Amino acid sequence: MEQGVDRTRIDLRKQPETGQIARAFARALDLAQLHEGATAPNPPVGCVLLDSSGAEIAAGAHRRAGTQHAEIHALAAARESGLFDRIHTVVVTLEPCNHHGRTPPCSEAILASSAQQVVIACRDPNPRAVGGAERLVQEGRTVHFLSEMSHPEAPGLMARAERLLAPFAKHVRTGLPFVTIKQAISAAGSMIPEPGRKTFTSAASLVLAHRLRRRADAILTGSGTVLADDPHFTVRHVPDHEGRQRLLVILDRRRAVSPHYQSAARQRGFDVLIADDPASALTGIGASGAMEALVEAGPSVTASMLDAGLWDEHVLIEQAAGAGNEDRVTVRRNPAFSLDSQGKGTDVLRHY
Ligand SMILES: NC(=O)c1ccc[n+]([C@@H]2O[C@H](COP(=O)([O-])OP(=O)(O)OC[C@H]3O[C@@H](n4cnc5c(N)ncnc54)[C@H](OP(=O)(O)O)[C@@H]3O)[C@@H](O)[C@H]2O)c1
Repeated sequence: MEQGVDRTRIDLRKQPETGQIARAFARALDLAQLHEGATAPNPPVGCVLLDSSGAEIAAGAHRRAGTQHAEIHALAAARESGLFDRIHTVVVTLEPCNHHGRTPPCSEAILASSAQQVVIACRDPNPRAVGGAERLVQEGRTVHFLSEMSHPEAPGLMARAERLLAPFAKHVRTGLPFVTIKQAISAAGSMIPEPGRKTFTSAASLVLAHRLRRRADAILTGSGTVLADDPHFTVRHVPDHEGRQRLLVILDRRRAVSPHYQSAARQRGFDVLIADDPASALTGIGASGAMEALVEAGPSVTASMLDAGLWDEHVLIEQAAGAGNEDRVTVRRNPAFSLDSQGKGTDVLRHY
């Protein structure tokens, strides 16, 4: 298994310091986040390889289902740069997989390198893929978890890693998508824009809204919004993932949305689904393989889903009262649905 690895190039008396590992996690999370919204039904994952002095050798991220996992990208980059035999520590946001899926197990690829230790943020919630950490320990590697790391940045990094994984974790365990409800409220307390306008929030809030769309696999709306605004639901104020196709689900019991709107939406790259109620819409979204649904609807659907507890994250954008003031954005997690036990809700603000 370890044939071809020159172990004399690793200084076994040294190992990366906690601060270097924390920095590597921050970088692995940044890399993973670049592909958030492009990887369904797989999770976004980032990986950084360190040598025994704590210097970064290579890094990688998972980009799309069916392509290489983050660890394999990082190991290939290390090989290309001639530093493969210096790998001491693997820092990875998700436990390396241990099963033959569309790609061979990452645990085996790590075992075939000179890596001595693996530091993991989240355990794999996929029952088919678990056991990577145990396999590495069985073969004599040291495995640590970020949650056990004593460093001032560890809790914040852990919260980021859990939020990054939450849509995958929910989908793999329940078959349902992680639901983010975006709701904008004017200074007067209304969700309805003035006649002739489609929005009332600031330029920064508009960018936030498009970043939320970029991250989503599906958009869920109501017929009222479609009839009032003829919305495009495309990602415009930030660059979208290349060739990204999303699901657009419209709650429309009366079938009031025209075939013309639906075919125009298909031309914009959406798969369109008409649904009768939020619960069946979420079942359909989950069945399509979508892991995160963004609800962009008017007051009727928004209130109905919030009241029914059919949400995981609620992003509330409140218009600033005075001209020139920034909108107030608050993010809260549904403690009943969220798989992030820490309930931290700031990530969307810090990183978007
Ligand atoms: N501020 C914001 O964040 C925001 C975001 C989006 C839209 N808007 C504004 O909202 C306005 C439209 O408001 P709206 O309330 O009519 O739009 P909506 O909530 O998007 O759509 C309401 C329609 O959805 C259908 N529906 C299906 N299942 C439902 C359920 N369980 N609960 C509620 N509705 C269900 C109903 O039509 P059927 O009975 O035919 O099924 C209902 O008339 C527009 O002016 C738009 O600009 C604001």
